[in-house]
This record gives sequence, C-alpha cells and structure tokens, in this order.
Amino acid sequence: MALREVRQVGDEILRKKSREVTDFDVKLHSLLDDMKDTMYESEGVGIAAVQVGLLKRAFIIEIEDKVIEFVNPTIIEKSGNQIGIEGCLSVVGESGYVERPDYIKIEAFNRNGEKFIFEEEGFGAIVASHEYDHLEGELFVDKVLTEEEVVEKGYEIEGDTE
Ligand code: CO
Repeated sequence: MALREVRQVGDEILRKKSREVTDFDVKLHSLLDDMKDTMYESEGVGIAAVQVGLLKRAFIIEIEDKVIEFVNPTIIEKSGNQIGIEGCLSVVGESGYVERPDYIKIEAFNRNGEKFIFEEEGFGAIVASHEYDHLEGELFVDKVLTEEEVVEKGYEIEGDTE
C-alpha cells in the first residue's frame, strides 16, 4: 500500500471520462488499497481512480467508518433532492453548495468482480453521486450554487451536510 499523488483541478485528466475496468486483478486491488490510504491521508470521504491519475471506472467512499469500493458502477435509480456543502480532494481549499439526489441506488462490482447493490439516502447519496461524477469528468465546482440560488430553491442556508 502506498500514497498516490492527487491530481488537482486544471489537470486535464480530471475532465476525461473513465473507462470500464476489465481486469479484477492484483493491479486493481493495489490501486483500491492505495486510493484508501490516499483518501485517509487527505481526510476525505471519497476518492475516484481518476484523481490518482488512472482513467478507470472505480471509486471508494467512506460511510459510518466503512469503506465501500465501487467498480464499474451504474446509477440505476435516484430520487428527491438535497443540498450540502461539498469539497473535493482535487479542489483543495474550496467548498460550495451542491444539489444532489436525496436517494441513490447503484449497481456495481467489488474488487473481485462480484456484483452488489448500494442504496443510500442523505449523506451517502451525496458522496456516491459526487464520486460518480468524477468518472464522467465532472467536478463539484461545475455545480456549485450561490446562496441566492440555494434560497430560491427553497433550502435553508446551513453550515453542514450532515
Ligand atoms: Co471529488
């Protein structure tokens, strides 16, 4: 296991679409292990492979002290809306209001190629949705709302996502 360099906004790779993972091999496993180390080191709650420079459709998130690995994820359902303040390991020092689905259902594979279903509401839906965007070359800064827009949408201005 090792730390990997986190690519920062402005780096073209973050704008590219990641590709399907075809080999659930040792290389994938060490990538996922390194992503976990790197996420913990940076005190993040999620990280995508592209953020450490690999255009693979894989990300990890941490919810309630548990790390979940997603390989080749597909969003199969989402509903509702919520707003939270987001940041990103690739956009150090910035944060902003982003609207996300309140509920998300994702079909994905684990590191051994076994399919699973992930279903979350609230914070987990925000994090999974944020990480999924990375696979499409999207960053939260593309979606940031001003305080006025937040109020217009009927949300209350708050200081936390949880
Ligand atoms: Co991010």
